[in-house]
Formats: sequence, structure tokens, C-alpha cells
Amino acid sequence: MPNSPPWVIALLEQLRHCVETDIVCRGDNQQDRSALEGHPPGIVVFPTQQADVIKTLLFANQHGIPVVTRGAGTGTTGGAVSATDGIVINLSRMNRIIEIDTKNHCIVVEPGVILETLHQAVESSGLFYPPDPASLSECTIGGNVAENAGGPRCLKYGVTGDYVRGLSGVYADGQPFKLGGKLLKNVAGLDLIHLLIGSEGTLGVITEITLSLIPLPQERRVFLGQFASTQLAIDGLHTLRMTGVCPSAAEFMDRRCVEAVRSRHPDMSLPDADAYLIIELDSPPFSLPDLFTETGPEIWTIRRSISPALKAIGIEKMSHDITVPPAQIANYMTQLAIISEETGFIMLAYGHLGDGNLHVNILRGTHSTEEWRSQKENLETRVVELAVSMGGTITGEHGIGLTKKRFMPLMFSDTDIAIMRSIKKAFDPNGILNPGKIF
Ligand code: LAC
Ligand code: ZN
Repeated sequence: MPNSPPWVIALLEQLRHCVETDIVCRGDNQQDRSALEGHPPGIVVFPTQQADVIKTLLFANQHGIPVVTRGAGTGTTGGAVSATDGIVINLSRMNRIIEIDTKNHCIVVEPGVILETLHQAVESSGLFYPPDPASLSECTIGGNVAENAGGPRCLKYGVTGDYVRGLSGVYADGQPFKLGGKLLKNVAGLDLIHLLIGSEGTLGVITEITLSLIPLPQERRVFLGQFASTQLAIDGLHTLRMTGVCPSAAEFMDRRCVEAVRSRHPDMSLPDADAYLIIELDSPPFSLPDLFTETGPEIWTIRRSISPALKAIGIEKMSHDITVPPAQIANYMTQLAIISEETGFIMLAYGHLGDGNLHVNILRGTHSTEEWRSQKENLETRVVELAVSMGGTITGEHGIGLTKKRFMPLMFSDTDIAIMRSIKKAFDPNGILNPGKIF
């Protein structure tokens, strides 16, 4: 690579077999789905085995070079965005399903396996891995572990971290680790596995994952409820839950979300309504109150298209994934509508209504670039502070990355953050792993 600094040439010599020298490929590896541009990396390494990761980290640690690890780049908070010059480790070529162990109810995979591929492999063995982030056809399981990804089914089944039994990988200094495994109970020592889960590439590089699997539900049915207002949809979910039904997903979207999807995919149509609930059931009884009618699984395509569709209509948008205790949802929605009215910016919330995790999108709309720039931070702060004031969190599933760093003090005391920093230092004394993220 002409004009590259000497360290790039030195690393390239050691890892020529897993480095693309095409400059275009470097550009592909600096962004995620946040609005952040990122910094072009000096080199992108595509390991095919753990030994490549070890070599890369030994080199990086010795020379103090930053390392950003990434999968498919479908994150939304800048976790995989390169903030400085340095090395990108792209794990997409470590994409083998090593074993589906039906006797121990687990799967062993490399981090670059696409989630949908994992789902299909597991389900063809009669087993089930529930977490289902909206980007499941593109995102990788390694990224899911690094972000502790969620999704609609987490309402009934929990998030990625609830399924991780074992992790192998490489610490910042190039030393390999192997934690946990196929065993179901393990309380030995401090729980390093759960420190690594959701650590957004700041504590280590994961090269192998063992995940719990559960029996595949025999049947899955999807229902749609149409409502004349958001409040009626929230009431509809409450009525349903009072009947004792335990949905595997309870998702909310409003008219504006559906219109945004339709503007990109005119073939996707839904009956006219102001608010919609998608309810999925995967265990009997399969009957719901009259408010709901059975529909086909295609409805999920509409639901999963909302985020990219809003980006397209909003010109620019800020997206937050606040979570509040479920009983506060109605209050949150009411207050959000008031802020939107007061400020004149479109603010809409869709998503995982059942577990209180809403994707709040603030759209630039027709406002000028100037207005947007001068007001967006304040708008974000109001939306996020509102959730925290109701006992909620600044992020339910997308992580902190770069875009939510400034909200950390809303959630944590100085002492909490100092403890996190010292944990980071213990894992990564030279601060080479995903510098500038989270803290
Ligand atoms: C979703 C993503 C944005 O639920 O988390 O659509
Ligand atoms: Zn989501």
C-alpha cells in the first residue's frame, strides 16, 4: 500500500494472507449505521483463525496502535466506527458453525456467522436460538455478543447475553482466553464472560462462542391489532396481558412508521390505522381478544424495515433506544408527544412495546441544517433524560458506542465510572482496544 506508514508495512508483512490491499475495502470498514463518518483505518485485517488475531494484537499492543473490531457494521451507536487511525479487525471471514451439539443443547460458532444463518442451522436441528435483532439477515453473532443485542423475542426469551455459555478470544496483549464452555452451571471466579458480553470491543476480541439452545416451538402465529391512537394500542396490549397470554413478541409502530416503509416499498401495505401492534405467539393458547386478527409472517418485513426507512425520509435523524419500566410506556409516549409539539421536530417511537424498549427517532425533516445542528443535542438530551427520570435507561439494546457517551453520567456515579475504567485498564493496560468508546 503506497504512502502507508511504516507500521502498516510491518504488519502487512506478518499478515499478508489476511489483508486486502485494495483501498476501497478500507473505506468500507470505517462506518456503522450511525451518522458518524469514522476515520479511514491504516489497515484492515480479515482473520480466518485465532492465530491471526493473536498476531495482530501482539503487534498492536507492542506498538500502541488502536484496534477496532467489527462484524457486519450494523450497529447504530458508532461502536464499530474507527475513531482514530489504526487497525480494523474484520471478523466476517471467521464464519464457521463449528458444531451443533444436540445432546448438550448448544451451538459453537465463530463470530462472523450471520445471525439468520445461525437461526436456520439451529432450527433445522429442531432447536431454537431466540435473540432476533432487526438486522438479523446481515448482523453477525460476534457483533451481537459484543453489543449484547436484543430484538422482539427478548420479551419472552431474554437477550443475547442470556444464551452465552462460553467465549474464547484474545486479550489486548495477545494472550488467548477460553472461558466457560458447554456446561450449564459455572460459578467459578468473577464472571469475565459477562464482562466481555456487551463490552463493545473494548475488553478483548472474541473468536469462538458457545450458545445455549432451547427446544423449537412447534408453532408460531402472528397477529395484528389496529388502533385509533397510541394510547389505545398500549391499552390493547394491557388487555391482552391480563388474559394471561405470554407473547413471544409485542411490537408497536404508528402510521408514520408504516408510511415511511411504504414510501420505499410501495408493495408493502397494511390496513389503515393510526397505531399498530404486532403480537407473536409461539405457545398455546393461540387465541387473542377480538382487537387482534391473525396475519402472515410478512408483517415482520415491514417492522424490520422501519429503521432504514425513517433514515430515508428524515434526511437526518437521531435514534435512541431508551427503555422504561413497562408501566411507564404510556406516560413516556405522552411526554414525548408534548416535547415534539413544543419543539416542532418530528419525534416518533416504535419498537419493543412489551418490554418497554422504544426506538425514539428525532427527524430533521424540513428544518434547516443550521436549526438541526443547533438543536439536536438539546432534543436528544430531553428524550433521554425523560426516560431516566421514569426509572429507565439510556440504551436498552444498541449500546453506548460514541453516540451515547455523554449520557453515561445520567446512569452512573463517578465511582461507578471509575470502577468501569479500572476494569478496562485491567483488560487493556495500553488502551488499544476500541479507544474512545463507552467511557
Ligand atoms: C429495531 C432496531 C433498530 O428494533 O433495534 O428495529
Ligand atoms: Zn430494536
